[in-house]
Amino acid sequence: MKALVTGGGGFLGGVIVRMLHERGDQVRSFSRGEHPALETLGVEQFRGDLGDRSAVMEAVKGCDIVFHVAAKAGIWGSYGDFYQANVTGTENVLEACRTHGIAKLVYTSSPSVVFDGNDVEGGDESLPYPPRYEANYPKTKALAEQMVLAAASPLLATVALRPHLIWGPGDNHLVPRIIAKGRAGKLRQIGSRPCLVDSVYVDNAARAHLMAADRLIPDTGISGNAYFISNGQPLPLWEMVNRILAAADIPPVTARISPKLASAIGCICEGVWGLLRLPGEPPMTRFVAHELSSAHWFTIEAARRDFGYQPEISIDEGLEHLRNWFLTGKS
Ligand SMILES: NC(=O)c1ccc[n+]([C@@H]2O[C@H](COP(=O)([O-])OP(=O)(O)OC[C@H]3O[C@@H](n4cnc5c(N)ncnc54)[C@H](OP(=O)(O)O)[C@@H]3O)[C@@H](O)[C@H]2O)c1
Repeated sequence: MKALVTGGGGFLGGVIVRMLHERGDQVRSFSRGEHPALETLGVEQFRGDLGDRSAVMEAVKGCDIVFHVAAKAGIWGSYGDFYQANVTGTENVLEACRTHGIAKLVYTSSPSVVFDGNDVEGGDESLPYPPRYEANYPKTKALAEQMVLAAASPLLATVALRPHLIWGPGDNHLVPRIIAKGRAGKLRQIGSRPCLVDSVYVDNAARAHLMAADRLIPDTGISGNAYFISNGQPLPLWEMVNRILAAADIPPVTARISPKLASAIGCICEGVWGLLRLPGEPPMTRFVAHELSSAHWFTIEAARRDFGYQPEISIDEGLEHLRNWFLTGKS
């Protein structure tokens, strides 16, 4: 099988590439930059921007399957930039799949596409998309997911996976942020409710992509569906944060602020960053304040039932790997 992984040099994409390569598939990656780790593996690299239709067309040509993993992530940025990467980019991938007769498309979505700021406990795939979003990332990921699912046809099988808070060695988003803020003593627990939150070790999330791909057949079974993917072990959010800090020998976060105060700080930061066009991301937004003070965990029963997904690496084992990565720099 010849697979294209968009964002194959990224955190999740890199593990998907490694797993495909290990089982003997031919792999091609598409992203803007050059990724030396891919070169070491002998992975073909196509460089371009998702928003560039002809670059995406070229990358898709000659493949049997596409894993569309690349996206613009983050809590801050213009709607135009998020739209271009996440929505126009996905439109380009879909068009390229149709043009080049690709039979299968696995799209990496996000559980944030159903997050409306309220608690979700044991939610399943029947949860609706909310009428409005507090950030451009979930809004554009939801638009892209809906396009991917609607594109399922007898010729093109599509599936969307929603991995929840991916973490592990090589993480360039969540873990480094927790470590940097924890080290600087800048983390505060928000609220005192022990809100359960899902997360997923990166290898489990990557394996789910391969398992879904293997069971993906046009017009039957899982095509046209979205699935939540997690470790199936929801934990109180601050317990998980403190366990990640402990893996780096950083003391736990104990100081607290109220959810109302966090939301008010988020609102002020958004105003200041928007008005003064300050660089980088604000330290708090309303979206983040709500995510950090609410429960959000989902059943993974549908993924288990439909393509046999089973998280192989437990949180304890994953934290050991993380600790080793902190100590040696090797994943
Ligand atoms: N990390 C999480 O907790 C999490 C949770 C839920 C869902 N997800 C989803 O999982 C996917 C992968 O996330 P990740 O954490 O692995 O992110 P990541 O490490 O930032 O990887 C994303 C990759 O996409 C490429 N990329 C970004 N914008 C691009 C563009 N405009 N054109 C071409 N390539 C582009 C980047 O490479 P270049 O910079 O070289 O272009 C990067 O290697 C995303 O779809 C994200 O929405 C992540």
